[in-house]
Parts: sequence; C-alpha cells; structure tokens
Amino acid sequence: MKTSEEYRIGVVTLSDKGSQGQRVDESGPIVQSLLSTVGKVIHTLILPDDIESIAGVLTEWSDLERLNLIVTTGGTGLTPRDVTPQATLQVIDYEIPGMAEVMRMQSLKKTPHAMLSRAIVGVRGQTMIVNLPGSPKAARENLEAVMPALPHALAKLAGDPSDCGEK
Ligand code: MTE
Repeated sequence: MKTSEEYRIGVVTLSDKGSQGQRVDESGPIVQSLLSTVGKVIHTLILPDDIESIAGVLTEWSDLERLNLIVTTGGTGLTPRDVTPQATLQVIDYEIPGMAEVMRMQSLKKTPHAMLSRAIVGVRGQTMIVNLPGSPKAARENLEAVMPALPHALAKLAGDPSDCGEK
C-alpha cells in the first residue's frame, strides 16, 4: 500500500481572468495546502474556461503523468463559460456520485447557493478527478467535505486488495 508521500497530485485552477493574469489565484494555493496531508502536489496549472484545454490536461495528467488525484477548482456553476463538469464528464470512465453528493450536502449547511455547483467526482484509469467550485471559501469547504474518504479511495484505486470493513 502506498504512503501519502507517494500519491501524486495535480491541481488545476479554471479561470479566464486568472489565466490572463487579471486575477490572483487564491483557490489553487488553498487546495494545494489542504492536499499536503494526502500526497505530493507535483503539477499546478491555471487554465481558461475552455472545454478542450481542460479535457486535454485531465487526459494527459491521467494517462501520461499517471497522477493519482487531479483536483480542479472553478467553472462548476451556471455561467456560459462554466464548463469544467462537461470537460470532466468527457474524460472519466465512471463517476463516484457519493463524493459529489457529500460536497453539496455539507455545503448546503453553509449556503443555499451550494446547489448551483455541478461539480463531478470521477475516475479515469487509476486517476481520481475531483471538481471544486472556484471561490477560495467554496473550494476549501467542498474539499474538506471529501477529505476524510480520500486516503482510502486513493488506496483502493491504486489497487489495495485488503478488506474494507472497519473493525
Ligand atoms: N459551496 C460552498 N461550500 N460554499 C460556497 O460559498 N458557493 C456556491 C457553490 N458552492 C459555495 C459553494 C456558488 S455561489 C456557486 S455559483 C457554485 O458553487 C459554483 O461555483 P463556481 O462557478 O465558482 O464553480
């Protein structure tokens, strides 16, 4: 079984303004720092809200870089430029609905606007892909909601054959 040191993680911030240097990316660094207990963040990127670019990076980081986890922040809402869930659905093999459900369930305790996030959690090959909303607050709150299950989920995806039941 891998230790947390061995999990390879990528963080992608989706923001038209951020990618043009017109907005400082606060969410990416917050996500990175929260994930330091889960594994090593070895790739970070700020991309515009462009479906082909997002799908391209998710594919490359899964298939070529063999990352264990890719976390995106931004582009899960309802504006015409919000396309992260569409790009994610294009590339994943299957969804992990419970993780997205928990993000929204916990977030609804903070704001009714939580129901507007279309964030997807899914798997491509042996890589888990987690969408988070874009504001620093929302990114933190949503990631904290799924953090408790991340180590176990990554171990299973990496092939840990041990039985799951808690003793
Ligand atoms: N979830 C939490 N926990 N906290 C928040 O403040 N903001 C919501 C929602 N999820 C929010 C949240 C808002 S206002 C929107 S529009 C959606 O996430 C989508 O955000 P995005 O377009 O930045 O991805």
